[in-house]
Amino acid sequence: MTTTNAMMNSTPLMRIDIVCAVPQVVEQVLSTSIIGRAREKGVVEILLHNLHDYATDRYRHIDDTPFGGGAGMILSCEPVFSCVERLQSERTYDDVIYMTPDGEQLTQPLANRLSMKHNLILLAGHYKGIDQRIRDVLVTREVSIGDYVLTGGELPAAVLADAVVRLLPGAMGDAESALNDSFQTGLLDYPHYTRPADFRGHVVPDVLQGGNHAEIERWREAEAYRKTLQRRPDMLEGRPVVDPLAAKNKRKRTKPGSVPGDTEVSHG
Ligand code: ADE
Repeated sequence: MTTTNAMMNSTPLMRIDIVCAVPQVVEQVLSTSIIGRAREKGVVEILLHNLHDYATDRYRHIDDTPFGGGAGMILSCEPVFSCVERLQSERTYDDVIYMTPDGEQLTQPLANRLSMKHNLILLAGHYKGIDQRIRDVLVTREVSIGDYVLTGGELPAAVLADAVVRLLPGAMGDAESALNDSFQTGLLDYPHYTRPADFRGHVVPDVLQGGNHAEIERWREAEAYRKTLQRRPDMLEGRPVVDPLAAKNKRKRTKPGSVPGDTEVSHG
C-alpha cells in the first residue's frame, strides 16, 4: 500500500528489536496486513537482528554442545551478548524478553501492559535451549505463548509483537475494535454476520436485521456471555452474573452454570 506523509507518525510510539537466528520467518509475518501497515505508517518500528551476524567464527556458528552432555545444541552467550549489548548502548530498553515455553503465559492483560512500553527487545532461541547466563544477565522477562513447544522462538516473538502492536493508537483502522476484542471485555466475542441475510438457508438472527440498537446490544452481550459460559467458565469467576436479555428495568440473575435465556429471576 502507498503511505502518504500525512499518515506518517514522526516518532514511532514503540520500537521492537527482535533478535533471532531465522529473521526471515518473523519478517514474513510482520510485514503484511495490519502490522505491516502500522510499520509503514510509522506507528511502530520493528527491527530484526540475525544472530549469525554476531558469530565470531568463520562458519558463523551461534550454538554449541551442552556442558554435562546430552542431546541438542545450546545457543551460545557470545552472539547474544554482543547483539543485545550493542542495542543497549544505543538506547534504553524497557525489557529484554526471552520467548520460552517455561515463561509467563502471554495473556491480553500482559499484552496491554507491554503496549505501554517504548523500547522492547524480543529474544528468540532456536535450539534446545540457550545458555543460562543469557537469562541470568540480559533477560528481564520470559514469556510463553502457550503450553506447547515450537522449534524456535521466532513465531512466538511474532505473536507477541502482533498482540502488542495492534493495541497501539493508529495501528488499527477502527479505534474501537481492539477495545471490543474477546478478553478486553472480559467475555468472548459474540457472533458476527454480514450479507447475505440468507446463505443457503442459514439465516442471520432477526434481531440483527431489525435496526433496534438497544436490542442488538443486549443480544450481543447475551451471546458473548453464553459463549463464555460454555467455553471459558473460568473467565466468569468473580464477575457479577447478569442476564443481558432480561427485562430492561429488571435484570435477571443467572446461577453459575446456567445460560442467559434459561435464567432464574432473583427476587432479592
Ligand atoms: N519457544 C518454543 N516454544 C515456545 C512457546 N510455546 N512459547 C514461547 N517461546 C517458545
